[in-house]
Amino acid sequence: MNINSPIGIFDSGLGGLSVLRQFIRFLPNENYVYLGDTARVPYGNKSKDIIQRYAIECANFLIQKDVKMIVIACNTVSSLAIESVIESAKSIPVVGMIKPGSHAALRSTKNGKIGIIGTRATISSKAYKLEIEALNQNKSIEVNSQPCPLFVPLVEEGLLNSEATRQIAYNYLQSFKDCDIDTLILGCTHYPLLANIIHDILPGVNLIDSGEHAAVNSLRLLAERNLLKDDSNIFVEQPKIDFFVTDLPQNFHKQAISFLGFEVEKPELVELG
Ligand code: DGL
Repeated sequence: MNINSPIGIFDSGLGGLSVLRQFIRFLPNENYVYLGDTARVPYGNKSKDIIQRYAIECANFLIQKDVKMIVIACNTVSSLAIESVIESAKSIPVVGMIKPGSHAALRSTKNGKIGIIGTRATISSKAYKLEIEALNQNKSIEVNSQPCPLFVPLVEEGLLNSEATRQIAYNYLQSFKDCDIDTLILGCTHYPLLANIIHDILPGVNLIDSGEHAAVNSLRLLAERNLLKDDSNIFVEQPKIDFFVTDLPQNFHKQAISFLGFEVEKPELVELG
């Protein structure tokens, strides 16, 4: 592993490309290896034991690619299996979504009322809530959480602006109106794509994209460890991304573009385990 090694990012599927997008925004000169465990997605309704096992397999794959950092793009894995990934990664730094998202939410809130949305596994783990409580020094904080399991399939079907999505979002988010939150953590790879709808339902609420804050934190962490790529002052138009999946979804290209914002080459199929 050296400064020219790639940053490794993994997710349960293609949703983590929304996180890769943020990394490219803040670290455009780095090389990337992306692994999407598309054969076993979704993780968000699976048990802790299974999620930990899958997470270790994904991390080991990236370690074999000689990455200089492991980014857990998946909020579900970040909630339930970050310790297992850190153990496997040994000296390689590991960045998850929970800490950066929680820090950003605490910085954002004025009235101390923070909302969290995520998969069922993420919400029932209470990972965000516990992290916010641990980081909170002096503010009086109230945290309200809501699982939004239908958001993942709606986004994957490309229904980003449909009336059905709007209605479902309204049902999920209604309770946040009643408790007057001023900050909402989008605690799932897919939810930043629904930011417009969420914003319409909760106007004035600051939406926290954990992937964006993870990218900013990683920039800092790599700089501190002298691990930024040596040509980091030269802007390249599109970074080098080695793309791996465990299954090729039928609508791969459409999904990849909607999460990442640009077209990618066909990924390589791999088996984990
Ligand atoms: N990537 C997952 C997350 O961020 C969402 C999809 C899944 O359930 O696997 O929690």
